[in-house]
Amino acid sequence: MTYTVAVVGATGNVGRAMLSILAERNFPAARVVPLASERSVGRKVSFGDRDLTVDDLATYDFSGTDIVLSSPGAKVSATFAPHAAAAGAVVIDNTSHFRMHEGVPLVVPEVNPDAALAHKGIIANPNCSTIQMVVALAPIHRAAGVKRVVVCTYQSVSGSGKSAMDELYRQTKAVYENATVPPQVYAKPIAFNVLPHIDVFLDSGMTKEEWKMVAETQKILDPAIKVCASCARVPAFIGHAEYINVELSASLSVDEARSLWRAAPGCAVVDLDSGEDLDAPYITPKDAQGEDPVYISRVRADDSVEHGLNFWCVADNLRKGAALNAVQIAELLVAQGALGKGARS
Ligand SMILES: NC(=O)c1ccc[n+]([C@@H]2O[C@H](COP(=O)([O-])OP(=O)(O)OC[C@H]3O[C@@H](n4cnc5c(N)ncnc54)[C@H](OP(=O)(O)O)[C@@H]3O)[C@@H](O)[C@H]2O)c1
Repeated sequence: MTYTVAVVGATGNVGRAMLSILAERNFPAARVVPLASERSVGRKVSFGDRDLTVDDLATYDFSGTDIVLSSPGAKVSATFAPHAAAAGAVVIDNTSHFRMHEGVPLVVPEVNPDAALAHKGIIANPNCSTIQMVVALAPIHRAAGVKRVVVCTYQSVSGSGKSAMDELYRQTKAVYENATVPPQVYAKPIAFNVLPHIDVFLDSGMTKEEWKMVAETQKILDPAIKVCASCARVPAFIGHAEYINVELSASLSVDEARSLWRAAPGCAVVDLDSGEDLDAPYITPKDAQGEDPVYISRVRADDSVEHGLNFWCVADNLRKGAALNAVQIAELLVAQGALGKGARS
């Protein structure tokens, strides 16, 4: 069976990654329709070795479309996704809008695949920094019960869209030209800087990105897990890194943790035990660019608490943190026969 797939936000960072991942993984698509704003109508986007012409989301008729991979920003998704779902499509939405809605599954296929089947037309893709963290936490949670997580993130600018990548590029170049490019996407210059500020500030003093990591981890993995998150934006283009500290309910040695991760779907370990031919026994965001796994390095015991473990976790935020996770959810629905005519009747 083959499907009609619409990619909403197809000219953006996440949308372009969705198109290339659909092509790479030979998703059974009879037709792929790239959609964006009126500004982009007629533009070409790559789908494998073909060019597709972008259409206008505002005038597109979703009847006959089986699946929608969506990343046009929260406000746009809030408006179009319910219409697309009412027309019979399943919308897998990357924006923050639906993630915490009752009745909308929030899915990471390696962690809670069964949740996907309970959808009512919309499935939410979690935040990029949450996805990589829960992929890494799931195997050790199953083995030794994660009680508390303290995470510090180092997030690349591609997480704020293509305009943020332009801002980092232009500000960096300006430094060598004795010029200044004032910040527009961020509150302060991002070039040669680190900003402890991702998304808006909430009344609690947390940023919304930090709140998302707490709430989404509890929805996906376990409501009993306590999470303390501190998020920072760093001047890297692609790839998010996280230092993660966990307190477990039972003892788990460093070697046992590495073995669990090596056997877990979606995880890869590069660490001191990985072989002497490595330049350095860890993965950086630059190394993870274009790669699918969630990488784990620097695994060590934290003796300051009972059953404590520390590790470094890196993934490509545009792939596993966004587009790849969405395509994997679509593949899950295909495997479960939950897509296409009659699947939602
Ligand atoms: N980047 C990440 O790591 C990441 C991870 C998870 C989730 N997300 C979420 O995914 C969404 C998109 O992120 P991005 O990084 O791809 O942003 P981006 O590079 O800025 O791209 C935004 C896309 O949305 C389209 N769009 C904007 N307004 C629209 C409208 N009124 N109608 C139709 N399409 C419209 C844009 O089309 P035009 O080119 O026509 O303007 C473009 O295709 C955001 O909500 C973001 O939070 C991003």
